[in-house]
Amino acid sequence: MYTYVLILQLVAVSSVLAVRGEISTIKNLKYPCSKTSDCGVEYAYCHDGYQQCVCYESYWADDGLCVRYAAKVGESCASSFLVCKGIKNSYCSTDNKCECLWGYTKVHDNKCYPTLNGTCVFNSFLTEGSCYGDDKICSEDSKCICKEGYVQHMRECVKKVDFGKTCSSDIQCAHLPHSYCNTTCKCRPTYLDGRFYDSTLNKCVKGLDAPCEVKTDCGYYFMDCTNRRCQCNSEHYEVNDSCRIKVTQLNATCYHYNDCAVPNSMCYNKQCRCDWNYFEEGGKCVKGLHAPCILDDECKKNNSEDQVLIHGPNTPVYKCKLVNGHVKVETVRQKFDNKAAKYSYDGNSPDQNKLYFVF
Ligand SMILES: *[C@@H]1O[C@H](CO)[C@@H](O)[C@H](O)[C@H]1NC(C)=O
Ligand SMILES: *[C@@H]1O[C@H](CO)[C@@H](O)[C@H](O)[C@H]1NC(C)=O
Ligand SMILES: *[C@@H]1O[C@H](CO)[C@@H](O)[C@H](O)[C@H]1NC(C)=O
Ligand SMILES: *[C@@H]1O[C@H](CO)[C@@H](O)[C@H](O)[C@H]1NC(C)=O
Ligand SMILES: *[C@@H]1O[C@H](CO)[C@@H](O)[C@H](O)[C@H]1NC(C)=O
Repeated sequence: MYTYVLILQLVAVSSVLAVRGEISTIKNLKYPCSKTSDCGVEYAYCHDGYQQCVCYESYWADDGLCVRYAAKVGESCASSFLVCKGIKNSYCSTDNKCECLWGYTKVHDNKCYPTLNGTCVFNSFLTEGSCYGDDKICSEDSKCICKEGYVQHMRECVKKVDFGKTCSSDIQCAHLPHSYCNTTCKCRPTYLDGRFYDSTLNKCVKGLDAPCEVKTDCGYYFMDCTNRRCQCNSEHYEVNDSCRIKVTQLNATCYHYNDCAVPNSMCYNKQCRCDWNYFEEGGKCVKGLHAPCILDDECKKNNSEDQVLIHGPNTPVYKCKLVNGHVKVETVRQKFDNKAAKYSYDGNSPDQNKLYFVF
């Protein structure tokens, strides 16, 4: 009898574990006996015919005990954790009651069905293997998860919420990166709704002028992180708090002074043209007279005029200028300066045989 009590205690300690195995359908414990006191097992009597110990009505022989299986969640399992075998997916809790296992939920008082994180049967038609609750489904790896459009919040599935729709928890907005819940799903400070510039961008992104560290902080391909702020990249220009793609062809129509992408071009009379002192050559704007320059060969001869261009010192910026003998008369007259002779184009002392002009 002492041993029996000890066994019961051991059983009680391990009783928080899941109850495995099928319920028993036999009543005969098969212990030999001649009278009931020989059996030493509760709810068993000595069967006269068999001379063996047999369980009472509604008790079943399980693991050497006579067990009355629980029929409802919450029933006592003080006598044995085996009692909870009567309810699939339950266990005998520390306060000796049959409770649903973690990942299972009580349904109709007497069943524990899989719910979030519980094990289910993928594509099952049976209620028992299916996940309990309309907002849950069984995944291919046999776990209950929230269905499409829902997200797990503790032990519940909550609906994902779109920008501007009422929410009660940040988690409902979490599918929109950099958003949070403040009555509705909103973008975090310095972020803005990605769809503001790009209808397919369902997230909050850093907009123009938002602080940034790297280009990828800025939500749009057309922005760069310049001076730690998100700004339009070189192919785009900023207008009305937005970045627009620049016009890349000379002569094309433009709408904004910043609109023309060809280097050294500008928007003039709604057309991209080469800047003053530059002229067009092969779709590009090249340096003509007075254009700032560094090397001689940057300075190009304007086809229509008989002139040679060469760079020369004209502090603070070097500019393309005419060399002696190739004088563009009207310009020279206007711009002639006595100081000119002080300079030579390469910065050395002037060649007395040449005359240099500064424009
Ligand atoms: C439950 O499942 C979700 C989704 O698979 C997972 O993120 C979460 O960590 C799980 N919870 C526990 C306690 O295992
Ligand atoms: C929630 O939004 C309101 C109005 O836009 C704002 O004044 C408030 O600071 C926000 N609350 C939090 C916690 O961000
Ligand atoms: C900027 O916005 C204003 C007001 O909405 C509009 O009148 C103007 O044409 C816009 N500018 C450009 C370049 O689109
Ligand atoms: C190039 O020559 C054309 C035709 O004479 C003239 O209109 C234009 O101003 C010149 N441009 C430069 C930059 O020299
Ligand atoms: C732009 O127009 C001028 C004359 O108006 C023409 O000579 C030139 O080839 C055109 N350039 C382009 C890139 O279309």
